Amino acid sequence: MPTSPLLTASESTASTRLRQGGAVVRKAKLPDAVNVFELVNSLSGDGTLLRRSYAEICENVRDFTVAESESGIFLGCGALHLYGPHLAEVRSIVVKPEAKGQGAGGRLLRALLEEAEEQKVTAVCLFTRIPDFFFHFGFRIVDRTTLPDKIYKDCQTCPRLYACDEVAMVRGPLPKIAVLGPSRIAQPELVKLQTGTIPPSC
Ligand SMILES: CC(C)(COP(=O)(O)OP(=O)(O)OC[C@H]1O[C@@H](n2cnc3c(N)ncnc32)[C@H](O)[C@@H]1OP(=O)(O)O)[C@@H](O)C(=O)NCCC(=O)NCCS
Repeated sequence: MPTSPLLTASESTASTRLRQGGAVVRKAKLPDAVNVFELVNSLSGDGTLLRRSYAEICENVRDFTVAESESGIFLGCGALHLYGPHLAEVRSIVVKPEAKGQGAGGRLLRALLEEAEEQKVTAVCLFTRIPDFFFHFGFRIVDRTTLPDKIYKDCQTCPRLYACDEVAMVRGPLPKIAVLGPSRIAQPELVKLQTGTIPPSC
């Protein structure tokens, strides 16, 4: 198997390997949204994870991967948000307290990196308070201003904007482009609906 830019040969994981030793990872389905919502928001109060509404989790459920025991008990989750071929972001990665230290978090992260690889994304980023965990998986600390897409997506509306205690990390080459900009849309840019009659064929 050729070595991918995001996963080294030793990290590249076939789905059968993910089943070894307890936790199984799989793509989330809508019925998982309640478990994801409760676990992610149990750690949003102190800023460990960004708060995610139930509606937002349902809308983006295809971003999520879940870990569960072989008997199907929910253990944790993580999400891969795609900005474009230049960048994806690992979000909402968390394992239940009683399941920590048994490999589920690592399996979730490897599955998300594999997904980024399948999507041909060249770089994966994240913001975190625990860089040591992500060093294990080839991430490095970077200046957050090198990730304007992340800043425009989350930081500009974050109450901790000027008191952020997270570090930015990247795996892969720094993105050379950005696809997002400031969220305030200037009035002239709003699309005006055309007045007039609608043709019967529409
Ligand atoms: C971070 C987290 C997902 C790790 O999950 P986990 O299932 O305990 O991790 P694993 O057992 O798969 O550990 C994988 C490796 O990372 C190491 N590791 C785990 N947590 C670590 C941490 N906080 N700091 C440094 N290394 C860590 C483990 O020792 C292990 O290393 P090894 O392969 O050399 O033995 C989990 O601790 C968690 O849910 N934390 C709270 C939420 C959070 O902070 N998420 C990150 C937001 S960016």
